[in-house]
Amino acid sequence: MDLSTVLCLFVSFLSIFLFKSLAKSFLLSFKGKQSPLPPGTMGWPYIGETFRMYSQDPTIFFATKIKRYGSMFKSHILGYPCVMISDSEAAKFILNKDQLFKPTYPASKERMLGKQAIFFHQGAYHANLRRLVLRTVMPETIKDLVSDIESIAQSCLKSCEGKLITTFLEMKTYTLNVALLTIFGRDENLCGEDLKRCYYTIERGYNSMPINLPGTLFHMAMKARKELAQIFTQIISTRRNMKQDHNDLLGLFMSEKSGLTDEQIIDNIVGVIFAARDTTASILTWILKYLDENPCVLEAVTEEQESILRAKEESGEKMDLNWSDTKNMLITTRVIQETLRIASILSFTFREAVEDVEFQGHLIPKGWKVLPLFRIIHHSPDNFKEPEKFDPSRFEAITVAPKPNTFMPFGDGAHACPGNELAQLEILVLLHHLTRNYRWSIIGEKNRIQYGPFALPENGLPIKLYPKK
Ligand code: HEM
Ligand SMILES: *[C@@H]1O[C@H](CO)[C@@H](O)[C@H](O)[C@H]1NC(C)=O
Repeated sequence: MDLSTVLCLFVSFLSIFLFKSLAKSFLLSFKGKQSPLPPGTMGWPYIGETFRMYSQDPTIFFATKIKRYGSMFKSHILGYPCVMISDSEAAKFILNKDQLFKPTYPASKERMLGKQAIFFHQGAYHANLRRLVLRTVMPETIKDLVSDIESIAQSCLKSCEGKLITTFLEMKTYTLNVALLTIFGRDENLCGEDLKRCYYTIERGYNSMPINLPGTLFHMAMKARKELAQIFTQIISTRRNMKQDHNDLLGLFMSEKSGLTDEQIIDNIVGVIFAARDTTASILTWILKYLDENPCVLEAVTEEQESILRAKEESGEKMDLNWSDTKNMLITTRVIQETLRIASILSFTFREAVEDVEFQGHLIPKGWKVLPLFRIIHHSPDNFKEPEKFDPSRFEAITVAPKPNTFMPFGDGAHACPGNELAQLEILVLLHHLTRNYRWSIIGEKNRIQYGPFALPENGLPIKLYPKK
């Protein structure tokens, strides 16, 4: 090849390149948009793919899509166009850019929980609430609650002895009582029964059609929400009259420095209970199922719990559990982590693009919903070997720990779960007493799962609970 040919080739390459970029910038100014929308189908107008997604195992729905379109694809659910994100780095990015992606919930759910609740907000108001909640559930605070949580766990188990129970319902009673302890402290005279009744009614209406007409579940739930506000108003005014400082969540909310109105306080109490209760109860339910299915794991957990007590006995310590005991429950902790992964009770969360966002070569238009798919991330063989296998040892640091940033059962970024330490503590304490003192057998069909709003063993896992001795 002589010099002129090389030159010639070079020039023609250059001109092609120039032409291409010229054409590109022309197209850009013409369309005003840089990147195409993500691939995917939008399904039918309005209903979109809502039914397809909610009527089957969401893993199957998503897996089919990912195979076809890749890790980011568009869809249309609950009346909104949306982009689904199944890559962990991308999910992390979305959850950490809260100036670009704000939290978003259907208006009916906002109304039911209370518009002032933490989930719906950003900026200074959100940061203030978050600080207050974190202070109540951080290790330094909940350290002092271990023996109270222990007695709640023991009496909960005692009340189930010898009976056929619905695991999920009993665990909900437990997690509600722990939530009430952190919010109202030890000595509040609570209208426990009324409060529980209101919550059950709200839950039944929460996922029903939002039609506010007499007789509908939604209407009953909205009524129960009003009654709940009255109960909390009563508690607040009793406290004001006592003129005593409390160092629980309500105490912090009511302190002058918090700057919160009564309505804001109530919406956030409702919200924290809502966030704390079903999540923790359903993880506990899944743990009982997985321990039943994996006798070796159950044995290892039981042995760990026995050995913690034995050590206390030998050293002549008080027999009550304390915080550092719970930090030594390494096997049990891995069982919790593995259950959080495999059950992925919050399959995904919602954000909304605040403006047009360019992301990984695609356009996410302003107003579109963005869904980080936690369940898919936790079930990807790229992140977890043999993802469908329940294997707590995968969380051992010495073997291959999960790839960083692929495990996010508590979300990530500004709205990540502030209650993770509390959740872990109450689960550990319950498992301590359960595995040492009880056996259980699952009644009925073992492998069915119900979906909506989140995955749960069918019928809430009916079991029979027997004392060991
Ligand atoms: C195993 C149990 C739990 C799981 C799996 C869980 C999971 C989550 C996740 C994934 C989020 C983030 C949602 C999003 O980004 O859209 C969240 C938020 C939240 N969780 Fe939890 N949670 C659990 C227990 C608790 C407990 C015990 C509390 C009690 C304090 C709690 C309080 C909250 C609150 C207040 C938020 C909202 C935070 C904000 O918007 O800034 N959660 N939770
Ligand atoms: C907690 O229990 C452990 C083991 O029984 C004991 O060594 C430790 O001193 C206790 N910690 C506190 C703060 O009581």
